[in-house]
Amino acid sequence: MNQSFLLTPGVLGNVIGLNASMGEILGWSIIAFAVAAGLLFPLRKWGRPVLRRIVGKTKAAKAYRNSQKIHIPFGILAVVAAVSHGTIMYIIEGELTGREWVGLTGVIAILLAIVLGAKISQKRDKTKKQVHMAIFTTAAVLIVTHIGMTP
Ligand code: HEM
Ligand code: HEM
Repeated sequence: MNQSFLLTPGVLGNVIGLNASMGEILGWSIIAFAVAAGLLFPLRKWGRPVLRRIVGKTKAAKAYRNSQKIHIPFGILAVVAAVSHGTIMYIIEGELTGREWVGLTGVIAILLAIVLGAKISQKRDKTKKQVHMAIFTTAAVLIVTHIGMTP
């Protein structure tokens, strides 16, 4: 099998046994992980008072503290899933069309936001945190567009 044949769109994916449903599952996993990471925002805004009412002050404080710990691990899972999904889809399709470019821009935006996230976790910075959130909002718009472009 010669090299140029392998590079024909779709061929390499078949040869190494990748299929679109793997990529699709990963695609939806990115969304699930990102939503889990993004829960930090409503938890901060409304979580503690609601929890206090349900389980009391001490338990609420503990649950709230624990809930903060999932942010970074789920954020990292989201980006790992995004890079894997993009790579698998590119190998399967063998070309970058509009849909892939929109997805790729989304992945680059997320990587950028996470670099900022890593900086904020070392040293708190309100502006960087706002930019971290604003980039995720932009990425969400790109991703909804990306999913909408899937025929
Ligand atoms: C954070 C970034 C991304 C997210 C959240 C995401 C999410 C998704 C989701 C949920 C689907 C499934 C849609 C459906 O079931 O109809 C999908 C499909 C697809 N994605 Fe992504 N994606 C991202 C980045 C990328 C990148 C970078 C590429 C390629 C370079 C890509 C290529 C594709 C392709 C080709 C499909 C269509 C699969 C098919 O229906 O056969 N995506 N994406
Ligand atoms: C999909 C992934 C992610 C999403 C959607 C996301 C979203 C957010 C949101 C909405 C906030 C604001 C919460 C608030 O204070 O109201 C935030 C804060 C923050 N994020 Fe992320 N983030 C993600 C990934 C990450 C990653 C991977 C890191 C670290 C490497 C990170 C580090 C931080 C830090 C340090 C804060 C500030 C928390 C604080 O003020 O104590 N984020 N993020």
